[in-house]
Order: sequence, then C-alpha cells, then structure tokens
Amino acid sequence: MTAANQVTEEQINFYRENGFVKLENMLTGEELEQLREYLEEAMQEEGSRSVKTDQKDGTYYRVLNQKVNTWRDHGGMAKFSFHEKFAKAALELTGSNEIRFFHDHGLWKMPGDSKPTPWHQDTPYWPVNEPEKGMLSIWIALDDVDEKNGCMAFVPKSHRIGKLNPIDLVNPQNIFDALEDGKLEDSKPVIVPLKAGSCTFHNGLTFHYAHANSTDRPRRALAIIYMPDGITFSGKPHTVTEGQKLEKGQPVKGPLFPLLAKRHA
Ligand code: SIN
Ligand code: NI
Repeated sequence: MTAANQVTEEQINFYRENGFVKLENMLTGEELEQLREYLEEAMQEEGSRSVKTDQKDGTYYRVLNQKVNTWRDHGGMAKFSFHEKFAKAALELTGSNEIRFFHDHGLWKMPGDSKPTPWHQDTPYWPVNEPEKGMLSIWIALDDVDEKNGCMAFVPKSHRIGKLNPIDLVNPQNIFDALEDGKLEDSKPVIVPLKAGSCTFHNGLTFHYAHANSTDRPRRALAIIYMPDGITFSGKPHTVTEGQKLEKGQPVKGPLFPLLAKRHA
C-alpha cells in the first residue's frame, strides 16, 4: 500500500462510529485509466460467468446497469477486484483478522430516465448468518460523482440499527418507516461527492442511497464486497453462491471466495 492509501486512525474511528468512510485517491491516475478500460470491456462483453442483472429497457436497469463478478470473465478486472490494497484497507477499517472476497460488481447508472438507488441496507440480500460481523463494500468512483450523476449518501450510525427486511430496489418501501420511534432521529444523511479514483467503504448494515444520473454520460463505479472472518453461509439463494457446494452454517470459502488479506501476528 502506498502512503497515500494508508488508512488513518481518524478514518478507522470514523468508519466504526458512522458505518461509512470516504478515502481519497485510492487509485493512482494510471490505475484509474486502466480500471476504466477494463470495466468498459467487462460491462460490454457478454461473458459466460459474470452475471448481468437486467437488460437495457428493464426496470432495474434504470436504477442500475449491474454486472456481478466481472473478474470471472476478465483477467484485468481480477487484478483490481482482488487488489490487496483495497482488502487491506477493509482489514484495518473492520479490525478483523481476515478479509475474504465475496463478489465484485460493476455499478453503472445509465443516462436517460435514470432512477435513484433507494435507501437500503446491503446485508439483507446476502446469504450469511452474521449481520453484526460487518461485511462491507468498497465503492470506487471511476467518474467524478455528485448529486447530478449518482453520488452516494449515507445515514451515519445506521449500521447500529441491525438487519431490517430487504428493500425492493425497483418499487422501494421506505426504509425509515421500519425504524422505531426516535431511532436515528438526530442522524441526518450525509451526501458524499467523490473524485474519480476515490472511494467509500460502507458497512452492509448502513443505510445508503444513490442519486439518479441526470447527465448524458454513464456514472461508472466498481464495488467489491468483503467478508471479515467468522461469516457463515445461511443457505439463502444467491447468484454467486449457487453451485458452490457451500454448507449451511459453515464458513463461506472456496475458489470464488479467496482470502485477500490477513492480519500479521
Ligand atoms: C449505486 O451504486 O447506485 C448503489 C450502490 C450500493 O447500493 O451499494
Ligand atoms: Ni447497496
């Protein structure tokens, strides 16, 4: 990890307190150029192992043009999705002993009738038993993002609420309706514009949202989901665990879920 990517004590404390953090300049200029090229290719090519969640003109496509596990069809994407510096940052932020890869996804918000990504938590969609153990995502901006083209927003401290029901991302319920009276009342959403090559990390329980893209160019982002140690498989159906011979109640492991970072004794 270069000095520029070192996670500071302040960032670690912020992440643990609030459930998200912004890390600037995660990518060098050269890495940003390379990742843009690889992700463009991965999003456009029809690979057989990665999974495109919806087709153009679909309702979910208006929220997100999403491709899951780009690394399985594109070696260049594997280089970034398994990059040690991202995983090491996740290790520091969570304070866990190990960081395992769960999946990557290209997350593009397309121009033209773009819809916001509604307020939601990620953990309810994942087939795991330990929501409190802090699975998390890095979200890397490949374009400068602000409220006009789909930057993210987070509710500080919402990761402490616990796991709620999943939100339908096309016909969303209002996640705030699920809160007991007074919960998060003082916690106002924080909008996080980013420069291309910068990123956020968010806990899978943190309430987050992304604005619609009202510009005429795609908003390109790569997100990678990580598992700290102690995460076991719940048996709930999920694209990336299907056919992986995982046992209910046993740790998630195997060739699609490599260990990326480990704490040295
Ligand atoms: C988005 O990229 O619009 C949403 C990302 C997320 O929900 O984690
Ligand atoms: Ni999300």
